[in-house]
Amino acid sequence: MWITRTLNPALACKLAKVLNRFGGPLSTPGSCSLFASRSASSFQHACTLDSDRSDEDNADINWDDLGFGLVPTDYMYVMKCSRDDTFSYGELNRYGNIELSPSSGVLNYGQALFEGLKAYRKGDGCGFLLFRPEENARRMQMGAKRMCMPSPSVDLFVNAVKQTVLANKRWVPPQGKGSLYLRPLLMGSGPVLGLAPAPEYMFLVYASPVGTYFKEGLAPIHLVIEDEIHRATPGGTGGVKTITNYAPVLKAQVQAKAKGFTDVLFLDSTQKRYLEEASSCNLFIIKDNVISTPLTRGTILAGITRKSIMEIARDYGYQVEERLVSVEDLIDADEVFCTGTAVVVAPVGSITYQGKRYAYKTGVETVSQQLYNALTAIQMGLVEDKKGWTVEID
Ligand code: COI
Repeated sequence: MWITRTLNPALACKLAKVLNRFGGPLSTPGSCSLFASRSASSFQHACTLDSDRSDEDNADINWDDLGFGLVPTDYMYVMKCSRDDTFSYGELNRYGNIELSPSSGVLNYGQALFEGLKAYRKGDGCGFLLFRPEENARRMQMGAKRMCMPSPSVDLFVNAVKQTVLANKRWVPPQGKGSLYLRPLLMGSGPVLGLAPAPEYMFLVYASPVGTYFKEGLAPIHLVIEDEIHRATPGGTGGVKTITNYAPVLKAQVQAKAKGFTDVLFLDSTQKRYLEEASSCNLFIIKDNVISTPLTRGTILAGITRKSIMEIARDYGYQVEERLVSVEDLIDADEVFCTGTAVVVAPVGSITYQGKRYAYKTGVETVSQQLYNALTAIQMGLVEDKKGWTVEID
């Protein structure tokens, strides 16, 4: 106890591990053993981690320079199964390129989903926190049904994510510097020529340390409403996290960035009147004490951060509504913000619609700042998690 309080967290953790080996005073259960979690350890024998390096040593990168670009890490988790089977066993592999048939379902017909979640280093230096990983697992299962793919059970999914974090623990940024972003992928890896579900599927989890998503950092972002290009259509796949929802918005995003905007806000494709979401995140508006977010209706991704923010806002006494949010509602709002795993809670400084710019309240006194503080305190383990949202990995 004295040691963990006095030394720097990583060092205290390392020392605890050494003393553990000799049955020393810090040999308490769960004190930083590589695979302390029972469920994670049952899969661990699949890969022997590097012995020429201490995994307690942090990676040698400048943690202050993290943005949202790929920093390749050491290991990725891979699991395969055939079309009529279920996922049952996977393993950690060295991070690297994967081999795919040129006629794989994913390369030819875009049969794939992805997820995004984050692991935070705990303040005491020992262990990590995941935020609502079961929600990602369930969302992948739902998306897999829509995309005619088998998907891992919630347990397999969460275990794969835990193993990926532990195998790449030296890449989890120090507390306050960012997080380890986990990217689970589910893809039709088997060959097809005619349009059909692929005969084989691959589930893969890789990781990258990340800081803030937008180049603005935590400063307000500036959005433009796109009224020609649409992200989703009724009956389509806008409500699931298929890879095919993302490349189609690139054109609008590139055009917007060229004009100096941070990102694009998309409208519904039938009436071009109701707001849906931005390229990579959900949208909220605030008017007086009412916080509104567009109703999902199958064209908007049901974000896990979106859901968490709605619950936190209700706890603070705000009236929270999921409803159709029109351009007029947006123009009339006091405050606007975006939410997402990568984005967290991003304040919106302005929105431009048909050439006219509308500005919103920003700064430390805003509701979005209050919600950001509350959410990130739970995610980073700075406050007691009364909601049971975080999952510990020791
Ligand atoms: C996330 O927020 O995790 C996402 O998947 C969005 C992605 C475009 C970065």
